[in-house]
Amino acid sequence: MEAFYIKGGKRLVGELEIGSAKNACLPILAGALMCDEDLNIAKCSYFTDIEIMINILESLGCETKKEENNLYINSKNASCHIIKEEYTKKVRSSIFMLGSLLTKFKKALVAYPGGCNIGTRPIDLHLKGLRTLGVKIDEKHGFIDCDGSNMKAGFVHLDFPSVGATENLMMACVKLKGKSVIYNAAKEPEIIDLQNFINSMGGKISGAGTSTITIIGVDHLHSTNYTPISDRIVAGTYLIACAMTGGHIKLKNTIPEHNLAVITKLKQSGCDVDLFENEIEIKSSGKLKSCAIETQPYPGFPTDLQNQMLALQTISKGTGIIVENLFETRFKIYGELTKMGADITIRDRMALIKGVDKLYGATVTASDLRGGAALVIAGLSASGYTTVEDIYHIDRGYKNMENDLNILGAEIKRIEI
Ligand code: EPZ
Repeated sequence: MEAFYIKGGKRLVGELEIGSAKNACLPILAGALMCDEDLNIAKCSYFTDIEIMINILESLGCETKKEENNLYINSKNASCHIIKEEYTKKVRSSIFMLGSLLTKFKKALVAYPGGCNIGTRPIDLHLKGLRTLGVKIDEKHGFIDCDGSNMKAGFVHLDFPSVGATENLMMACVKLKGKSVIYNAAKEPEIIDLQNFINSMGGKISGAGTSTITIIGVDHLHSTNYTPISDRIVAGTYLIACAMTGGHIKLKNTIPEHNLAVITKLKQSGCDVDLFENEIEIKSSGKLKSCAIETQPYPGFPTDLQNQMLALQTISKGTGIIVENLFETRFKIYGELTKMGADITIRDRMALIKGVDKLYGATVTASDLRGGAALVIAGLSASGYTTVEDIYHIDRGYKNMENDLNILGAEIKRIEI
Protein backbone atom coordinates (compact mmCIF):
# COMPACT_ATOMS: atom_id res chain seq x y z
CA MET A 1 0.00 0.00 0.00
CA GLU A 2 1.15 3.56 -0.69
CA ALA A 3 1.39 6.33 1.90
CA PHE A 4 2.58 9.90 2.08
CA TYR A 5 5.56 10.59 4.37
CA ILE A 6 5.60 14.26 5.33
CA LYS A 7 8.21 16.33 7.13
CA GLY A 8 6.20 19.04 8.86
CA GLY A 9 7.10 22.65 9.53
CA LYS A 10 8.00 23.80 6.01
CA ARG A 11 6.36 27.03 4.84
CA LEU A 12 4.70 26.72 1.39
CA VAL A 13 6.25 29.29 -0.95
CA GLY A 14 6.10 29.72 -4.71
CA GLU A 15 3.75 29.43 -7.66
CA LEU A 16 1.63 26.52 -8.90
CA GLU A 17 -0.68 26.00 -11.87
CA ILE A 18 -4.06 24.39 -11.09
CA GLY A 19 -5.43 21.74 -13.48
CA SER A 20 -8.94 21.02 -14.73
CA ALA A 21 -11.71 20.17 -12.28
CA LYS A 22 -12.53 16.54 -11.42
CA ASN A 23 -16.15 17.51 -10.84
CA ALA A 24 -16.37 19.23 -14.21
CA CYS A 25 -14.57 16.48 -16.17
CA LEU A 26 -16.72 13.65 -14.78
CA PRO A 27 -20.12 14.91 -16.06
CA ILE A 28 -18.45 16.12 -19.28
CA LEU A 29 -17.16 12.58 -19.90
CA ALA A 30 -20.65 11.25 -19.20
CA GLY A 31 -22.03 13.78 -21.72
CA ALA A 32 -19.47 12.73 -24.36
CA LEU A 33 -21.48 9.52 -24.82
CA MET A 34 -24.31 11.55 -26.40
CA CYS A 35 -22.20 12.66 -29.40
CA ASP A 36 -21.33 10.45 -32.41
CA GLU A 37 -18.48 12.62 -33.67
CA ASP A 38 -14.86 13.27 -32.63
CA LEU A 39 -14.52 15.08 -29.32
CA ASN A 40 -11.40 16.45 -27.67
CA ILE A 41 -11.32 17.24 -23.97
CA ALA A 42 -8.24 19.41 -23.54
CA LYS A 43 -6.13 19.64 -20.37
CA CYS A 44 -7.98 16.67 -18.91
CA SER A 45 -6.71 15.83 -15.40
CA TYR A 46 -6.28 12.06 -15.11
CA PHE A 47 -7.38 11.57 -11.50
CA THR A 48 -8.28 7.95 -10.77
CA ASP A 49 -11.99 8.82 -10.87
CA ILE A 50 -11.46 10.16 -14.41
CA GLU A 51 -9.56 7.02 -15.44
CA ILE A 52 -12.49 4.90 -14.18
CA MET A 53 -14.97 7.06 -16.11
CA ILE A 54 -12.87 6.56 -19.26
CA ASN A 55 -12.99 2.80 -18.63
CA ILE A 56 -16.78 3.00 -18.31
CA LEU A 57 -17.04 4.78 -21.68
CA GLU A 58 -14.80 2.12 -23.25
CA SER A 59 -16.98 -0.63 -21.71
CA LEU A 60 -19.96 0.92 -23.54
CA GLY A 61 -18.07 0.78 -26.86
CA CYS A 62 -16.69 4.33 -27.02
CA GLU A 63 -13.25 4.86 -28.57
CA THR A 64 -10.89 6.92 -26.41
CA LYS A 65 -7.30 8.03 -26.89
CA LYS A 66 -5.07 9.96 -24.50
CA GLU A 67 -2.37 12.21 -25.94
CA GLU A 68 -0.75 13.87 -22.94
CA ASN A 69 -3.55 16.00 -21.48
CA ASN A 70 -5.73 15.74 -24.57
CA LEU A 71 -8.45 13.11 -24.33
CA TYR A 72 -10.04 12.11 -27.65
CA ILE A 73 -13.44 10.39 -27.50
CA ASN A 74 -15.72 9.05 -30.24
CA SER A 75 -18.95 7.37 -29.15
CA LYS A 76 -20.24 6.55 -32.66
CA ASN A 77 -19.84 2.81 -32.12
CA ALA A 78 -21.05 2.71 -28.53
CA SER A 79 -23.75 0.06 -28.34
CA CYS A 80 -23.95 -1.08 -24.71
CA HIS A 81 -26.35 0.56 -22.26
CA ILE A 82 -25.23 -1.39 -19.17
CA ILE A 83 -22.87 -0.18 -16.41
CA LYS A 84 -21.84 -2.94 -14.07
CA GLU A 85 -21.33 -2.79 -10.31
CA GLU A 86 -17.55 -3.17 -10.71
CA TYR A 87 -17.60 0.42 -11.99
CA THR A 88 -20.47 2.00 -10.05
CA LYS A 89 -18.98 0.91 -6.72
CA LYS A 90 -15.66 2.59 -7.62
CA VAL A 91 -16.94 5.92 -8.82
CA ARG A 92 -20.26 7.30 -7.64
CA SER A 93 -20.52 9.73 -10.51
CA SER A 94 -21.22 6.76 -12.79
CA ILE A 95 -24.82 7.53 -11.81
CA PHE A 96 -24.55 10.67 -14.00
CA MET A 97 -24.49 8.27 -16.95
CA LEU A 98 -28.24 7.56 -16.61
CA GLY A 99 -29.12 10.79 -18.42
CA SER A 100 -26.62 10.37 -21.24
CA LEU A 101 -27.45 6.65 -21.68
CA LEU A 102 -31.14 7.53 -22.00
CA THR A 103 -30.34 10.24 -24.56
CA LYS A 104 -28.15 7.81 -26.51
CA PHE A 105 -30.11 4.55 -26.27
CA LYS A 106 -33.47 5.46 -24.69
CA LYS A 107 -32.60 2.84 -22.07
CA ALA A 108 -30.10 2.27 -19.29
CA LEU A 109 -29.20 -0.50 -16.86
CA VAL A 110 -26.88 0.82 -14.15
CA ALA A 111 -25.84 -0.92 -10.94
CA TYR A 112 -26.65 1.00 -7.79
CA PRO A 113 -23.68 3.21 -6.87
CA GLY A 114 -22.08 2.49 -3.51
CA GLY A 115 -22.43 5.00 -0.70
CA CYS A 116 -19.11 6.28 0.50
CA ASN A 117 -17.51 7.39 3.71
CA ILE A 118 -19.13 10.81 3.75
CA GLY A 119 -22.71 9.63 3.78
CA THR A 120 -25.37 7.39 2.26
CA ARG A 121 -25.37 9.35 -1.01
CA PRO A 122 -29.00 8.60 -2.03
CA ILE A 123 -30.10 8.94 -5.67
CA ASP A 124 -33.84 9.46 -5.10
CA LEU A 125 -33.76 12.96 -6.65
CA HIS A 126 -32.15 11.59 -9.82
CA LEU A 127 -34.81 8.89 -10.18
CA LYS A 128 -37.76 11.14 -9.24
CA GLY A 129 -36.67 13.66 -11.87
CA LEU A 130 -36.29 11.03 -14.60
CA ARG A 131 -39.68 9.51 -13.75
CA THR A 132 -41.21 13.00 -14.09
CA LEU A 133 -39.86 13.02 -17.66
CA GLY A 134 -41.64 9.73 -18.36
CA VAL A 135 -38.79 7.30 -17.77
CA LYS A 136 -40.04 3.92 -16.52
CA ILE A 137 -37.65 2.83 -13.76
CA ASP A 138 -37.45 -0.55 -12.02
CA GLU A 139 -35.03 -0.96 -9.15
CA LYS A 140 -34.25 -4.63 -8.67
CA HIS A 141 -31.32 -6.96 -7.93
CA GLY A 142 -29.13 -3.92 -7.22
CA PHE A 143 -29.72 -2.45 -10.67
CA ILE A 144 -31.57 0.63 -11.88
CA ASP A 145 -33.40 -0.44 -15.03
CA CYS A 146 -34.58 2.56 -17.12
CA ASP A 147 -36.92 2.47 -20.12
CA GLY A 148 -36.92 5.87 -21.81
CA SER A 149 -39.02 4.92 -24.84
CA ASN A 150 -41.81 7.27 -23.68
CA MET A 151 -39.64 10.12 -22.39
CA LYS A 152 -41.01 13.59 -23.08
CA ALA A 153 -39.78 17.15 -22.52
CA GLY A 154 -41.27 18.61 -19.36
CA PHE A 155 -40.40 20.40 -16.17
CA VAL A 156 -38.81 18.95 -13.07
CA HIS A 157 -38.64 20.59 -9.64
CA LEU A 158 -35.81 19.24 -7.45
CA ASP A 159 -36.58 18.90 -3.73
CA PHE A 160 -32.92 19.83 -3.12
CA PRO A 161 -30.41 21.49 -5.51
CA SER A 162 -28.47 18.27 -6.05
CA VAL A 163 -25.40 18.69 -8.30
CA GLY A 164 -25.54 15.19 -9.74
CA ALA A 165 -29.31 15.14 -10.21
CA THR A 166 -29.14 18.51 -12.02
CA GLU A 167 -26.42 17.19 -14.35
CA ASN A 168 -28.22 13.91 -14.97
CA LEU A 169 -31.46 15.67 -15.88
CA MET A 170 -29.69 18.21 -18.13
CA MET A 171 -28.22 15.33 -20.13
CA ALA A 172 -31.51 13.40 -20.21
CA CYS A 173 -33.26 16.42 -21.81
CA VAL A 174 -30.66 17.35 -24.46
CA LYS A 175 -32.51 15.63 -27.34
CA LEU A 176 -36.08 15.65 -26.00
CA LYS A 177 -38.24 17.53 -28.55
CA GLY A 178 -39.51 20.78 -27.07
CA LYS A 179 -38.63 22.67 -23.90
CA SER A 180 -37.63 21.14 -20.59
CA VAL A 181 -37.01 23.13 -17.41
CA ILE A 182 -35.21 22.13 -14.19
CA TYR A 183 -36.33 24.18 -11.18
CA ASN A 184 -34.35 24.43 -7.94
CA ALA A 185 -31.30 23.31 -9.93
CA ALA A 186 -27.83 23.30 -8.35
CA LYS A 187 -25.76 26.40 -9.26
CA GLU A 188 -22.21 25.03 -8.99
CA PRO A 189 -19.66 26.27 -11.59
CA GLU A 190 -19.34 22.68 -12.83
CA ILE A 191 -23.01 22.83 -13.91
CA ILE A 192 -22.25 25.92 -16.03
CA ASP A 193 -19.26 24.05 -17.49
CA LEU A 194 -21.46 21.09 -18.46
CA GLN A 195 -23.95 23.49 -20.12
CA ASN A 196 -21.09 25.15 -22.04
CA PHE A 197 -19.68 21.77 -23.09
CA ILE A 198 -23.07 20.51 -24.35
CA ASN A 199 -23.76 23.83 -26.12
CA SER A 200 -20.33 23.63 -27.79
CA MET A 201 -21.61 20.40 -29.39
CA GLY A 202 -24.78 22.16 -30.58
CA GLY A 203 -26.97 21.69 -27.53
CA LYS A 204 -29.42 24.42 -26.49
CA ILE A 205 -29.18 24.86 -22.70
CA SER A 206 -29.48 28.12 -20.76
CA GLY A 207 -29.72 29.23 -17.15
CA ALA A 208 -26.95 27.07 -15.65
CA GLY A 209 -25.56 28.88 -12.61
CA THR A 210 -29.09 29.93 -11.64
CA SER A 211 -31.77 27.76 -10.04
CA THR A 212 -33.73 27.48 -13.31
CA ILE A 213 -32.17 25.66 -16.26
CA THR A 214 -33.95 25.48 -19.65
CA ILE A 215 -33.12 22.84 -22.25
CA ILE A 216 -34.48 23.01 -25.81
CA GLY A 217 -34.21 19.58 -27.46
CA VAL A 218 -31.94 19.25 -30.51
CA ASP A 219 -31.60 16.41 -33.05
CA HIS A 220 -27.83 16.29 -33.39
CA LEU A 221 -24.66 16.96 -31.41
CA HIS A 222 -21.40 17.64 -33.30
CA SER A 223 -17.65 17.64 -32.69
CA THR A 224 -16.07 19.98 -30.21
CA ASN A 225 -12.70 20.74 -28.63
CA TYR A 226 -13.44 21.68 -25.02
CA THR A 227 -11.30 22.73 -22.04
CA PRO A 228 -12.99 22.13 -18.66
CA ILE A 229 -12.75 24.76 -15.91
CA SER A 230 -10.03 24.84 -13.26
CA ASP A 231 -10.47 22.80 -10.08
CA ARG A 232 -11.73 25.15 -7.36
CA ILE A 233 -11.47 22.45 -4.68
CA VAL A 234 -7.83 21.62 -5.43
CA ALA A 235 -7.09 25.38 -5.44
CA GLY A 236 -8.94 25.86 -2.14
CA THR A 237 -7.06 22.94 -0.60
CA TYR A 238 -3.68 24.52 -1.42
CA LEU A 239 -4.79 27.95 -0.20
CA ILE A 240 -5.67 26.39 3.16
CA ALA A 241 -2.38 24.45 3.20
CA CYS A 242 -0.49 27.72 2.69
CA ALA A 243 -2.48 29.37 5.50
CA MET A 244 -1.62 26.52 7.88
CA THR A 245 2.12 26.65 7.13
CA GLY A 246 2.47 30.43 7.32
CA GLY A 247 3.43 30.52 3.66
CA HIS A 248 3.15 32.76 0.61
CA ILE A 249 1.93 31.21 -2.66
CA LYS A 250 0.34 32.23 -5.93
CA LEU A 251 -2.02 29.82 -7.70
CA LYS A 252 -2.31 30.23 -11.49
CA ASN A 253 -5.03 29.11 -13.91
CA THR A 254 -7.72 29.64 -11.27
CA ILE A 255 -11.14 31.31 -11.39
CA PRO A 256 -11.03 33.40 -8.20
CA GLU A 257 -14.76 34.03 -8.10
CA HIS A 258 -15.31 30.27 -7.71
CA ASN A 259 -13.39 30.41 -4.42
CA LEU A 260 -14.90 33.49 -2.78
CA ALA A 261 -16.40 31.54 0.14
CA VAL A 262 -13.08 29.98 1.22
CA ILE A 263 -11.14 33.20 0.48
CA THR A 264 -13.50 35.11 2.77
CA LYS A 265 -12.93 32.56 5.56
CA LEU A 266 -9.14 32.66 5.08
CA LYS A 267 -9.21 36.46 5.36
CA GLN A 268 -11.31 36.12 8.54
CA SER A 269 -8.64 33.68 9.79
CA GLY A 270 -6.02 36.42 9.38
CA CYS A 271 -4.53 35.75 5.92
CA ASP A 272 -3.90 38.33 3.19
CA VAL A 273 -5.45 37.26 -0.12
CA ASP A 274 -5.15 39.15 -3.42
CA LEU A 275 -7.16 38.24 -6.50
CA PHE A 276 -6.07 38.74 -10.10
CA GLU A 277 -7.83 37.77 -13.34
CA ASN A 278 -6.97 34.05 -13.07
CA GLU A 279 -4.59 34.01 -10.11
CA ILE A 280 -4.99 33.93 -6.35
CA GLU A 281 -2.14 35.05 -4.07
CA ILE A 282 -2.20 34.27 -0.35
CA LYS A 283 0.15 35.26 2.46
CA SER A 284 -0.12 33.89 6.00
CA SER A 285 1.82 34.66 9.17
CA GLY A 286 0.79 31.25 10.49
CA LYS A 287 -0.93 33.02 13.38
CA LEU A 288 -4.58 32.19 12.67
CA LYS A 289 -7.89 33.11 14.27
CA SER A 290 -10.85 30.73 14.64
CA CYS A 291 -13.98 31.35 12.58
CA ALA A 292 -17.46 29.88 12.04
CA ILE A 293 -18.25 27.86 8.92
CA GLU A 294 -21.50 26.36 7.66
CA THR A 295 -21.44 24.30 4.47
CA GLN A 296 -24.09 25.13 1.86
CA PRO A 297 -24.77 24.47 -1.82
CA TYR A 298 -22.85 26.86 -4.11
CA PRO A 299 -22.21 29.77 -3.73
CA GLY A 300 -22.19 28.91 -0.01
CA PHE A 301 -19.13 27.41 1.67
CA PRO A 302 -18.30 24.16 -0.21
CA THR A 303 -18.59 20.91 1.71
CA ASP A 304 -15.56 19.66 -0.26
CA LEU A 305 -13.35 22.15 1.61
CA GLN A 306 -14.92 21.54 5.02
CA ASN A 307 -12.37 18.97 6.22
CA GLN A 308 -9.47 21.15 5.09
CA MET A 309 -10.88 24.07 7.12
CA LEU A 310 -11.40 21.69 10.06
CA ALA A 311 -7.66 21.00 9.95
CA LEU A 312 -6.87 24.72 9.78
CA GLN A 313 -9.11 25.49 12.75
CA THR A 314 -7.21 23.00 14.94
CA ILE A 315 -4.30 25.49 15.08
CA SER A 316 -6.39 28.69 14.99
CA LYS A 317 -6.53 30.81 18.15
CA GLY A 318 -9.93 30.57 19.87
CA THR A 319 -12.80 28.14 19.39
CA GLY A 320 -13.99 27.50 15.86
CA ILE A 321 -17.30 25.97 14.83
CA ILE A 322 -18.17 24.05 11.68
CA VAL A 323 -21.67 22.92 10.70
CA GLU A 324 -21.84 20.34 7.90
CA ASN A 325 -25.23 20.54 6.17
CA LEU A 326 -24.61 18.41 3.08
CA PHE A 327 -23.28 15.03 4.21
CA GLU A 328 -24.12 13.28 7.43
CA THR A 329 -20.74 11.68 8.20
CA ARG A 330 -18.19 14.15 6.90
CA PHE A 331 -16.28 14.62 10.17
CA LYS A 332 -14.63 11.19 10.04
CA ILE A 333 -11.12 12.64 10.18
CA TYR A 334 -11.61 14.27 13.59
CA GLY A 335 -10.27 11.13 15.27
CA GLU A 336 -7.13 11.21 13.12
CA LEU A 337 -6.59 14.92 13.79
CA THR A 338 -6.99 14.20 17.51
CA LYS A 339 -4.07 11.75 17.23
CA MET A 340 -2.03 14.77 16.03
CA GLY A 341 -3.00 16.77 19.13
CA ALA A 342 -6.16 18.50 17.93
CA ASP A 343 -8.95 19.37 20.40
CA ILE A 344 -12.22 18.68 18.55
CA THR A 345 -15.71 17.92 19.85
CA ILE A 346 -18.28 16.52 17.42
CA ARG A 347 -22.02 16.73 18.08
CA ASP A 348 -24.04 15.31 15.11
CA ARG A 349 -23.39 17.74 12.24
CA MET A 350 -21.43 20.25 14.30
CA ALA A 351 -17.73 20.37 15.18
CA LEU A 352 -16.32 22.58 17.94
CA ILE A 353 -12.58 23.09 17.52
CA LYS A 354 -10.46 24.53 20.31
CA GLY A 355 -7.26 25.87 18.77
CA VAL A 356 -3.96 24.42 20.03
CA ASP A 357 -0.49 25.92 19.53
CA LYS A 358 0.58 23.21 17.11
CA LEU A 359 -0.10 19.71 15.86
CA TYR A 360 2.37 16.83 16.23
CA GLY A 361 3.28 14.39 13.48
CA ALA A 362 1.63 10.97 13.69
CA THR A 363 0.59 8.01 11.56
CA VAL A 364 -2.97 8.67 10.34
CA THR A 365 -5.31 7.01 7.86
CA ALA A 366 -7.35 8.64 5.12
CA SER A 367 -10.93 7.37 4.88
CA ASP A 368 -12.17 9.53 1.99
CA LEU A 369 -10.88 11.91 -0.65
CA ARG A 370 -11.15 15.34 0.98
CA GLY A 371 -10.54 14.04 4.51
CA GLY A 372 -7.30 12.53 3.24
CA ALA A 373 -6.27 15.85 1.72
CA ALA A 374 -7.00 17.52 5.06
CA LEU A 375 -4.71 15.06 6.86
CA VAL A 376 -1.90 15.87 4.42
CA ILE A 377 -2.15 19.61 5.02
CA ALA A 378 -2.32 18.98 8.78
CA GLY A 379 0.92 17.01 8.42
CA LEU A 380 2.54 19.88 6.50
CA SER A 381 2.00 22.18 9.47
CA ALA A 382 2.69 19.65 12.27
CA SER A 383 6.03 19.40 14.01
CA GLY A 384 7.81 16.16 13.23
CA TYR A 385 6.92 13.51 10.66
CA THR A 386 3.43 12.41 9.58
CA THR A 387 2.55 9.28 7.62
CA VAL A 388 -0.82 9.37 5.85
CA GLU A 389 -2.00 5.87 4.90
CA ASP A 390 -4.63 4.74 2.34
CA ILE A 391 -3.73 7.59 0.02
CA TYR A 392 -5.57 5.92 -2.86
CA HIS A 393 -8.53 7.96 -1.61
CA ILE A 394 -6.55 11.15 -2.26
CA ASP A 395 -5.44 10.09 -5.73
CA ARG A 396 -9.12 10.09 -6.75
CA GLY A 397 -9.15 13.89 -6.79
CA TYR A 398 -5.54 15.13 -6.62
CA LYS A 399 -3.09 14.12 -9.37
CA ASN A 400 0.26 13.43 -7.63
CA MET A 401 -0.51 15.77 -4.75
CA GLU A 402 3.04 15.28 -3.48
CA ASN A 403 4.50 16.80 -6.65
CA ASP A 404 2.32 19.90 -6.34
CA LEU A 405 3.27 20.39 -2.69
CA ASN A 406 6.99 19.79 -3.28
CA ILE A 407 6.92 22.45 -6.01
CA LEU A 408 5.74 24.78 -3.21
CA GLY A 409 8.59 23.80 -0.89
CA ALA A 410 7.02 21.00 1.12
CA GLU A 411 8.93 17.81 1.96
CA ILE A 412 6.50 15.00 1.16
CA LYS A 413 7.13 11.69 -0.58
CA ARG A 414 5.07 8.72 -1.69
CA ILE A 415 6.31 5.54 0.02
CA GLU A 416 5.38 1.86 0.03
CA ILE A 417 4.32 0.52 3.45
C1 EPZ B 1 -21.28 16.38 -6.07
O1 EPZ B 1 -21.73 15.18 -5.50
C2 EPZ B 1 -19.76 16.33 -5.99
N1 EPZ B 1 -19.26 15.20 -6.78
C3 EPZ B 1 -19.32 16.16 -4.54
O2 EPZ B 1 -17.90 16.19 -4.52
C4 EPZ B 1 -19.84 17.36 -3.74
O3 EPZ B 1 -19.52 17.18 -2.38
C5 EPZ B 1 -21.37 17.44 -3.89
O4 EPZ B 1 -21.72 17.52 -5.29
C6 EPZ B 1 -21.94 18.68 -3.19
O5 EPZ B 1 -21.35 19.82 -3.71
C7 EPZ B 1 -19.19 15.33 -8.13
O6 EPZ B 1 -19.54 16.35 -8.70
C8 EPZ B 1 -18.64 14.15 -8.87
P1 EPZ B 1 -25.37 16.26 -4.37
P2 EPZ B 1 -23.31 14.78 -5.61
O7 EPZ B 1 -26.28 15.39 -5.16
O8 EPZ B 1 -23.84 15.19 -6.91
C9 EPZ B 1 -28.46 14.78 -1.15
C10 EPZ B 1 -15.73 15.40 -4.02
O9 EPZ B 1 -15.11 15.30 -2.95
N2 EPZ B 1 -29.05 14.00 -2.25
O10 EPZ B 1 -25.32 17.72 -4.67
O11 EPZ B 1 -23.43 13.35 -5.21
C11 EPZ B 1 -27.12 14.22 -0.72
O12 EPZ B 1 -27.29 13.17 0.22
C12 EPZ B 1 -17.21 15.01 -4.05
O13 EPZ B 1 -15.25 15.82 -5.10
C13 EPZ B 1 -30.25 13.34 -2.02
O14 EPZ B 1 -30.80 13.38 -0.93
O15 EPZ B 1 -23.90 15.69 -4.47
C14 EPZ B 1 -26.46 15.42 -0.11
O16 EPZ B 1 -26.95 15.60 1.21
C15 EPZ B 1 -17.72 14.51 -2.73
N3 EPZ B 1 -30.81 12.63 -3.05
C16 EPZ B 1 -26.95 16.58 -0.95
O17 EPZ B 1 -28.13 16.09 -1.63
C17 EPZ B 1 -30.22 12.57 -4.29
O18 EPZ B 1 -30.80 11.92 -5.19
C18 EPZ B 1 -25.94 17.07 -1.98
O19 EPZ B 1 -25.66 16.01 -2.82
C19 EPZ B 1 -28.99 13.24 -4.48
C20 EPZ B 1 -28.44 13.96 -3.46
